[in-house]
This record gives sequence, C-alpha cells and structure tokens, in this order.
Amino acid sequence: MSAESKDGRDQRVATVAATIAFVVGIGGGIAFAIVYSVGAETGWYTQALGGSLAVATAAIGIGSVIWAHKLMPHGPEEEERPFPGGNPDERAKMLATYDDSLEEIGRRRLLGRLLFAAVGVTGLASLFPIRSLGPSPFPERARTAWNRGVRLVTEEGHPVPVDELDVNGILTVFPEGHIHDADAQTVLLRVPSDIFEPLDGREDWSVDGYVAYSKVCTHNGCPVGLYQVETQQLFCPCHQSAFDVLQGAKPTFGPATRPLPQLPLAVDGQGYLIARGDYDVPVGPGFWTWPSAARQETG
Ligand code: FES
Repeated sequence: MSAESKDGRDQRVATVAATIAFVVGIGGGIAFAIVYSVGAETGWYTQALGGSLAVATAAIGIGSVIWAHKLMPHGPEEEERPFPGGNPDERAKMLATYDDSLEEIGRRRLLGRLLFAAVGVTGLASLFPIRSLGPSPFPERARTAWNRGVRLVTEEGHPVPVDELDVNGILTVFPEGHIHDADAQTVLLRVPSDIFEPLDGREDWSVDGYVAYSKVCTHNGCPVGLYQVETQQLFCPCHQSAFDVLQGAKPTFGPATRPLPQLPLAVDGQGYLIARGDYDVPVGPGFWTWPSAARQETG
C-alpha cells in the first residue's frame, strides 16, 4: 500500500472516530439533562449524573484530540508546484489534489459542527443544576402561609388565646395548618403596653401589647429567638444582630440591615390571636426584597 493511500485511509478512520466521539458527547449531554430532570427520586441519580457528564466531557475531549492530532495539518509544509502547462498527467494530478482539498474542507465542516453541538449541548445541560442552588427568591419567597384570619398556633398546634403570655413573654408561633413552615415561623412577644408605641401606619397591628415579627433573620436566615427584656431587643445567635422590638424590630447592632418583617395581629371572636394578613415585606435576607415583591395585604 502506498504511503498516500495509507494516509488517506488513516484520515478516514480518524474522521469516523472523531465523529463517533462527538456524537457520544452530544448523547452524554442529553443524557445528563434527562437524568437531572427526571431521575431525582431514583437511587442511581448521583451516579447517573456523574456518569453522563463524564461520558460527555471525555468524548468531547477524545474527539478533539483525534481531530487535532490526526486530521489537522502539522506544518509548516512546502511542496514544489510547477506550472502544470499542457501536460495531461500534471493537470489530472492537480485536479485530484483539488478534490482532496474539497474533501478536507467538508470533513472539517462536519467535525466543527459536531464539536460545536457537543459542547453546546453539554454546556446547556450543565446549566440545569442552577435549579439546585435553592428555591427561587422570587416570587414565591414574597409570600408565606400567613393570611388574613389565620390563627397563631404553638409548635404543638394549639391556638394562642389572648391571655397566653405574661408581659415580657415570648413564644414561637406558626400559621394554623403550617406548623414548622420555616418561612412562616414567628416570634410572638408581649411588651409592656406603657412603653410600646406603634409605628405610624401600624397602629392596629398589635393587640394588648402583643407584637409579632418574623423569626427569620434578615441577615442570613438564622432563627432570631433570644429576647432581652431589659433592652427590648431580639438577638440573632448566628452573627449577633440585634433588633429593637419597640421600633418595628429595626436592626440596632450586627450585620443585619433590614428590620424583621412584622406580622399584623388581631383577635378573633373566640379570643384567639389571628393574623390580619401576611408580613408587610418578604421575610429573610435582603436579596429577597425585590421592589415588586413588596405587598400590603393587611387590612
Ligand atoms: S443570620 Fe442573623 S445575624 Fe447573621
């Protein structure tokens, strides 16, 4: 077999190998997307995710290496190209070389498209796990299970009568039917009526000294549960933010920059504390405070 025909055969084999590798890469990317979308409940989820991503990236890598080593010219190369003149053999040889070049261009175009598709599919599929970074901050973070008329209940599910707490008492409460709902956890406090001045616009948000604030720290989401009666401050144990209970739970110390959202309260006909609506602003860290997320559903 001549060196020329052996080169031609090697290039065809390399083209087929690179094509197969890129197609496998595309398949691996698609498999990753499918597994991520539908396989979360299965026992092989993690392995299948890792396996499909490994196959995709390895196949793209192998295909690229084959293409670069076997099919790309490794120049610089020089070849004597005498003017063919009228010699029929020379002209035939030149035309054959031209045909080879066309084949080469077609092969590069095919492999280029396949490589682009494989990298594109795998790249797109690798964006899917962004969903796993956590719940979307908007718009569902703008609402909790609190609503107009919903009773406050203890962690045991007992409704809270209006005489439940002594002055300076504190209790963690949830909306009825949503016990242990993290976004809705609330600290209920009973402050001395003689020192409590409701903020403007919140005159009817408290009852008999009861005020209620979100328990989710506006710095980083830790539960704010420490109450210092002497200073009327709530403290977050994570980074020591302090919130002034008498001033709408505005932060007075620490890294939190936003007040704890206040839950407006009322009493129902049977003497149990109820919410007048949801919180006035989204609970938790400040990045949830999108302008359009603010709402006023109290009444
Ligand atoms: S989470 Fe509360 S101060 Fe950081």
